[in-house]
Amino acid sequence: MFLTLVFAGVEALVGLAGIIVDQNTSFQYDASLEDALAAFAFCALVALVLQQQERHGLAALSSLLALGYGVAKAVVVGTTHHSTNPASIALCAVCGACALGALVGSLRERRMVRDTDDYHLLEDGPKPAKLSAYAIAKLLKPYFWPRSLVGRVSVFSTLLFVILSKVCTVIAPLVLASAADAVADRGDVRKAIKMSLLYALLSFTGKILKECQSLAYLNVQKYAFIDLSSDTFAHLHSLSLQWALSKKMGEVVRITDRGIAGCDTFMKYGVLYIGPSIGEAVAVCVLFYVHFKLWALSLLVFGSVLAYACLTIKMTLWRKRFRQAMNKSDNAWHDRLTDSLTNFETVKYFTAEKYENQQFSREIACYQKSSVSVQASLSILNISQQVILCGCLGGAMALSAIAVHNGQASVGGFVAVNVWIINLFAPLNFLGTVYNALITATVDLSNLSELLAQKPLVKDPEPKVDHPALLSKHAIGVAFSDVKFRYPGVTAVDAGLKQVTFEVAPGTSLGIVGPTGAGKSTIARLLFRFFDVEGGAVTVGGVDVRNVTQASLRMLMGVVPQDTVLFNSSLDYNIRYGKRDCSTDERDDAAKHAALFDFVGRLEEGWETVVGERGLKLSGGEKQRVAIARLFVKNPPIVLLDEATSALDSRTEADIQGALAALSSDRTCVTIAHRLGTIATCDNIVVLNRGRITERGSHAALLALDGDYKAMWDVQARNSEVEVAEESSPEPQ
Ligand SMILES: Nc1ncnc2c1ncn2[C@@H]1O[C@H](COP(=O)(O)OP(=O)(O)O)[C@@H](O)[C@H]1O
Ligand SMILES: [Mg+2]
Repeated sequence: MFLTLVFAGVEALVGLAGIIVDQNTSFQYDASLEDALAAFAFCALVALVLQQQERHGLAALSSLLALGYGVAKAVVVGTTHHSTNPASIALCAVCGACALGALVGSLRERRMVRDTDDYHLLEDGPKPAKLSAYAIAKLLKPYFWPRSLVGRVSVFSTLLFVILSKVCTVIAPLVLASAADAVADRGDVRKAIKMSLLYALLSFTGKILKECQSLAYLNVQKYAFIDLSSDTFAHLHSLSLQWALSKKMGEVVRITDRGIAGCDTFMKYGVLYIGPSIGEAVAVCVLFYVHFKLWALSLLVFGSVLAYACLTIKMTLWRKRFRQAMNKSDNAWHDRLTDSLTNFETVKYFTAEKYENQQFSREIACYQKSSVSVQASLSILNISQQVILCGCLGGAMALSAIAVHNGQASVGGFVAVNVWIINLFAPLNFLGTVYNALITATVDLSNLSELLAQKPLVKDPEPKVDHPALLSKHAIGVAFSDVKFRYPGVTAVDAGLKQVTFEVAPGTSLGIVGPTGAGKSTIARLLFRFFDVEGGAVTVGGVDVRNVTQASLRMLMGVVPQDTVLFNSSLDYNIRYGKRDCSTDERDDAAKHAALFDFVGRLEEGWETVVGERGLKLSGGEKQRVAIARLFVKNPPIVLLDEATSALDSRTEADIQGALAALSSDRTCVTIAHRLGTIATCDNIVVLNRGRITERGSHAALLALDGDYKAMWDVQARNSEVEVAEESSPEPQ
């Protein structure tokens, strides 16, 4: 890879040199090789860019085209009888050889990439992710147009400071040129002094503006971070339950974290570092042309900057391997040291001191070797950078000397060239590291962009209409009519719910029983509209749940789930979550109803007791009661108890039963349970099996039916007798 780049680079530089040589002789198409040299130089530059983008096939094609043109031109020149400049013939031959080298190199590269694509991925660092410019622009929008006005002013100042600082850097050498001209004249010493001072001032201003830009950017960073994080957070909460169920939350947190940091890297390096550097390179090249009227000079400088950039990037990636190897061997010798000393006694038992010494020395030698490689490769990088920099400097100064000699430029211009070129190359020194950071940022950005592109499965109707029952606190009913449903991605024909029809009149209760996996919780999820039905309809208060906003629908309902998850905060916070603005009296009332008040009174920190992550510091029954109190505070007209007591022992269940009964009185209540005792008092009961309702009726009616329900009832009655007997027997001594 490196050799191919060198071939193409030499080809480009020799081509450019050849054009300059040829320029001095009068152009005659049949006799001159100038056009062939130009073709070599151009195609080599194209090949360099393509190589950089790892489009080895196209790079090979570009080299082939240059070769073809060169050979064709050689035939034309050979068959005419004009004499051709021997220097151009030699340069053309060198170009031809280099083009051949680049062609072979590119083809080999192409084959290698094909063979070991994955291997390359690991070796050369992360592969740039496919990310459209639109997606990047959308992510970076808060950096250019934050919501806060102060933020916008900061963005504007940052960009202004960047531009002004670069303008100072580019203009300063022009002033230096005037100073040098004034010195050379030996006449106007005042002008010389004035210009010198102005030059110093401009250089100083350039540096100060750069610092101002960094300061202004701190503000941009702050506002963009706020916007980006809160937008991402809001987006995540706008997604459907199915997304949350199918995603690893740790991964989501990581993607968000890295994505936001990646946006900052992109902005800092891409927009504020590389962008202005490219602008400066173009401005300097244009200035060179304007100043010296030599396009070869501009081309040489531009080509050198390009070659310098490519070389720095490639060599930094190449150096990464040495650094990784060094880190690995560093860990290895430390591990060896610790392990050996931990086993001190064992080493003595086996008199293995000498062996341990040998092993340790080997690890140390390995570390030293890789550490030398890191340093040596850094020196190689520095030398290569200096070769290009000094080559460009020498070439540019020689060309400007010619321009001064020909009267196309002044001595001052000659002096300024030096400063321009040094300024131009200085920021490119760390380009490799910057490139690496940018590639990593692209991967992070593409992950975040993918996350932000997720669409919610369940959407609110347009225009957004709230549920009409929201304002009245009367009891409302619930109905499922011929509901058919399958979870997204599930294709099995008999999965999900089929022909589920039931009605719960306002203020009455419905019990749903059935074996695990029958679809009981699915009914609860459809009621909350976490998913949309495939056929039929779910209605709440006579309104199809699809015709009202999800928020207004969910305000009408409350649930006590099987596994209550609590926020890692105080008991007070967790209960007030049901209604954020509830009064202390309301909270205490709710706690009394949920049989929680006395428990809180006994706690040392009372309401301020922190419940631990997911509420793990509380027992199952206590958590359950917090969930019930939370619902009392919310006070919804419909409550849903999804196996609310299944994880509890019979005694705690009996304790909570009272609280649940209080919660469901005066409300429409749907109770899901597999312990039939909990639902025996319901006005109506449905038995669900494999997504279908198999039996329905009141407890007495279902027992009389002598079907599945009766069978379950008998089994549970027997089990509970055993349980009661066990619980009342004396403890074994
Ligand atoms: N998000 C989901 N995606 C796919 N299948 C699911 C999902 N949630 C539940 N299921 C499946 O749907 C069926 C019914 O689940 P559920 O209603 O939770 O049962 P239960 O009656 O025990 O409450 C089960 O077979 C379950 O594996
Ligand atoms: Mg369930």
